[in-house]
Amino acid sequence: MSEKKIILTGDRPTGRLHVGHYVGSLRRRVELQNSGEFDKIFIMIADAQALTDNAENPEKVRQNIVEVALDYLSVGIDPSKSNILIQSMIPELTELSFYYMNLVTVARLQRNPTVKSEIKMRNFEASIPVGFMCYPISQAADITAFKATTVPVGEDQEPMIEQTREIVRKFNSVYGDTLIEPDIMLPTDESCLRLPGTDGKAKMSKSLGNCIYLSEEPEDIEKKVKSMYTDPTHLKVSDPGKLEGNTVFTYLDAFAKDEHFAEFFPDYKNLQEMKDHYTRGGLGDMKVKKFLNNVLQATLEPIRAKRHEYEKDIPYVYEVLKKGTDAAREVAAETLHDVKESMKINYFDDAALIKEQMEKYNK
Ligand code: TRP
Repeated sequence: MSEKKIILTGDRPTGRLHVGHYVGSLRRRVELQNSGEFDKIFIMIADAQALTDNAENPEKVRQNIVEVALDYLSVGIDPSKSNILIQSMIPELTELSFYYMNLVTVARLQRNPTVKSEIKMRNFEASIPVGFMCYPISQAADITAFKATTVPVGEDQEPMIEQTREIVRKFNSVYGDTLIEPDIMLPTDESCLRLPGTDGKAKMSKSLGNCIYLSEEPEDIEKKVKSMYTDPTHLKVSDPGKLEGNTVFTYLDAFAKDEHFAEFFPDYKNLQEMKDHYTRGGLGDMKVKKFLNNVLQATLEPIRAKRHEYEKDIPYVYEVLKKGTDAAREVAAETLHDVKESMKINYFDDAALIKEQMEKYNK
């Protein structure tokens, strides 16, 4: 088996990407891409997975493929270094999923914590689509098809990678060493593991209106920062403030750099000094929010500007997707070939099979 270092990761195209995606994974992907440490990088727009809970709304998925691609390009995913691909355009993934399904029990899928919480969130309860239930298996196909060694994702994806590893071990033990067992790569920084919504709720979601999108206009960023959840017991400026559960500080943990202080708030050298003042009392929420707004504006401005450039050349974006998908499909086809060979279901390429059958009948 190859010892190459290969990354596979991706997103469901159900909306524009937001700052949670950025600190949780996009920023890291760009670093990994530019580190030169990886032989191949595949970034998947998981439209087929998005359809598992949007079957009645394929138009939403169709529209958001290009939105996600624009977000990727604008944060610095470079198509000369990373393949951006569309999942449904690689039918080999569906075929792999079908064979992997026999290696997973229904009970195991029902125990998958991510699936469990998504069923709750979507009120599926008694009417879970079969395709949705099986998406962890299709995700295992995504990862193994590209022989990925490394899957950089947010913490919520941990159960998916664990399930993939189980499928790989099972496959290899039943059919012989074929698939590569991937490692998860989580954000190293605690504050980036899970960025809360601007309202302090654990999950950012479009329907709650609590996300800041990468492509958000400056006025809207400011509005959202101003309305952010802080410490409800911090009433007067002189009151000591709490950091725990204070969304503004969670965002600062994820975004603020020392340079930002030099530029926008030279009263402090770094975030720690600011936090100390806040917890001591004497620093008001408005000042902290103003600083966070400056930090976010400085971070998102170049991303938005780049996006506007790519928006002017949509055919180029589709060309990037086509090229990335074509390159990815070649690799997936190789893996499917290996899988069928290991399972000995490659009937027409199997000289031994013909010989075996001949001997059986011509003794
Ligand atoms: N499940 C991921 C999400 O909801 C998207 C995804 C699909 C993915 N296939 C993948 C992530 C393979 C990593 C690897 O964001």
